[in-house]
Order: sequence, then C-alpha cells, then structure tokens
Amino acid sequence: MEIPFFPPDLFENDRKVMLDLIREIGTAPEQKFILGEHTRAFEDLLREELGAADVVACGSGTAALGLVLRAMDVGCCDEVVVPAFGCAPLASAVLEVGAQPVFADVDPCTMVIDPDAVASRITHRTKAIMPAHVFSVMADMPRLADIAASRGVRLIEDSAVAQGAVLEGTPAGLWGEAGVYSFVQVKSFGMPGEGGAVVTRDAALGQRVRMLRNHGQRERFVHEAVGVNSRFDEIQAAFQAYRHAGFAERLQRRARIAEHYTERFSSLPGLVPPPAGRDGRCYYVYCVQCDRRDELRDFLAERGIGSHVYYPQPLPEQPAFARCAPVGERWPNAERACARILALPIYPHLTDAEVERVADAVREFAGGDRHVR
Ligand SMILES: Cc1ncc(COP(=O)(O)O)c(C=O)c1O
Repeated sequence: MEIPFFPPDLFENDRKVMLDLIREIGTAPEQKFILGEHTRAFEDLLREELGAADVVACGSGTAALGLVLRAMDVGCCDEVVVPAFGCAPLASAVLEVGAQPVFADVDPCTMVIDPDAVASRITHRTKAIMPAHVFSVMADMPRLADIAASRGVRLIEDSAVAQGAVLEGTPAGLWGEAGVYSFVQVKSFGMPGEGGAVVTRDAALGQRVRMLRNHGQRERFVHEAVGVNSRFDEIQAAFQAYRHAGFAERLQRRARIAEHYTERFSSLPGLVPPPAGRDGRCYYVYCVQCDRRDELRDFLAERGIGSHVYYPQPLPEQPAFARCAPVGERWPNAERACARILALPIYPHLTDAEVERVADAVREFAGGDRHVR
C-alpha cells in the first residue's frame, strides 16, 4: 500500500456535510454566497479562540499577505525584509504592492529567518519585516519583535503554515502586528478550495483589511481606497466552522506523529530532525535535513512512501525574483536547506502502522535499526 505525501481523501469523512451545506446555502431564500453570516461566524470563532482583536477571512494566504501590506501602506520605494528560503508569496506579495523584497538568510538548523541577518538588512527604506514560520518550527518571534520595535519597522507574521502553533504562550499569527493563515487544501486547517485569513491584535488594522478585501468599501459603492476582491465563500465558511471542532484533535495527532518521528530520527548519521519539544513547533509539514536527500527520497519512493521537497531553490535564485537580489550576494544557509530538506507524510489520518513504516524506512536508509515492538 502506498503512503502518499498528498493524501487524496482529506475530506472524505465530511463529504456529506459539504454536500448538505451546498444544498442548504444554495437553496436558501437570501442567496447569499459571499461575506454573509457564515463568514462572520467563522471569523468570530477564530477571533475568540485566538483572543485576537479581529480576524478577516479572505481569498488565500497570499491574498492575506497582500492585504496586510496594503493596509500598512507598504508601497513604492519601501523595502520589506523576507526570508531567502520560503514560498513565492513572501516575495511576490511585496512586489505586487510596488515594494522591494530584501532577502535575509535563514538559520542553518531551523531554516527560519535569522534575526541577525534581518537586523543587518534594515535600512532607512525598510518599512516592514516579514518572517515566516517554516513547516516544523516557528520563527524567533521574540527577537524579531524586539528588532521591529527598536528599529521602528512594522512586523508582519507569515503564519500561513502555523495555525494552531503557540510560542511562549502566544499563538502563531498574534506575534506580529498582523499574521496570516492559509486554508488551502493541504494546510493543517485546509479546506476543499482556496481561502485564508488575516489575524491581528489591532482592531483598526483589522477594519482596514476588511475594507480593502472588498474593493476598498466600507459602505457599498463608496471606495475609500484602492482595494482588491478577496471575499470569502459562505459555503466554505460554514464548512470550516463545522470542521473547526475537530481541528485541535487533528493538530494533536500531527504533533504526536512529529514527536514520534523526531524521537526515532535522533542520532541518525547524516540526518537532522527538527528540534524536539512542543513550544513554537508547527505540524503542517514535517521536514528533515539529509545529506543524501535525493537518495532518501528515491529510497522512500521505492517503498511506496511519498515525500516532497519544499523548496528546491532559494527565493532570490528564482527567475521571478532574481532581479531583486543584489549581484554577488549569497544566502548559504538557504542554499543548504534547499539541497537537504525533505518533507515526510504527517497528516492526521495516517495510521500508527503507516507512521512506523515511514520511520522504519528513514532509519533503514540512515543506517539505524528498525523499531522493536
Ligand atoms: C509560508 C507561506 N506563506 C504564504 C502561503 C500562501 O498561502 P496560499 O496558498 O493560501 O495563498 C503559503 C502557502 O503555501 C505558505 O506556505
């Protein structure tokens, strides 16, 4: 039996609920399909759970980053410091508002942005710093918050992969002035479609994001700013509100799988698991670093185990963003992470036997023994 990396049956158990909601909302007399009572209730649910001032649901995690940048008036001639290792929206959302991404290298072990590298990239043009949590580990938000405060720049937290993670008692998303979540299918709180949210401790900022997500309107046909269309779907909102009840348990399951992997992968030659512990850990994706990464990927594939390389190239070396990279500058830790990182299956409905199969295979590859049961 194959163990896929991207499981095709994420919503299998909730299919009936989805179909019932399509019928219910699709046949309701008000025919309200976007930004209605279900979106508001879903936002309120997340806001109360987090203790945030506001949560604004929007089109995607990428759109959420763009909305925050716009709400903070980041634009032409501004610079935003982002990690050199990460997903494309970290750079593209900045370019989209007319600002320049400035790439800072990452920590060699955790692969999250290095606060010293961030501090050294801040200039008089820097408007914001935008760290991202990377799969298994949250960025060093206490130090980044200090840097933002002492250097007078805004702090945007790309917590797209870290919904439900907590660092020193503060949930991912609330360390920054604003944070974002992504609900795209494969995320920890994914849904069958595209969606995201902005979360913030700043009620005024939340109101501004709310206005920008609907073409800059607070009042119908009064466009007080140039906004975007990033409205949320009512059926998805009702579905997410329903699925929210099981989210904590699914996260727990992910955490237990991650803990088990980390325990079984400690002291393996040539293979580094994420740091152990629960504080500041995210369980969306479980990544190891491996000297012979491509060989490990092939070894797992031969045994029917899917894995995935996030990300094969540092952002400043991508054709789309190379023009933003100063000539001759290098990001050695990001390059090393791209050459060594491998993500293993970690979704909550993996069975214990499947988890053990993955762990056994990785250990076998790295020269460790199998699990003795
Ligand atoms: C760190 C990070 N930021 C932003 C995004 C964008 O989220 P979305 O795919 O919902 O646009 C992603 C998506 O994978 C991500 O991993």
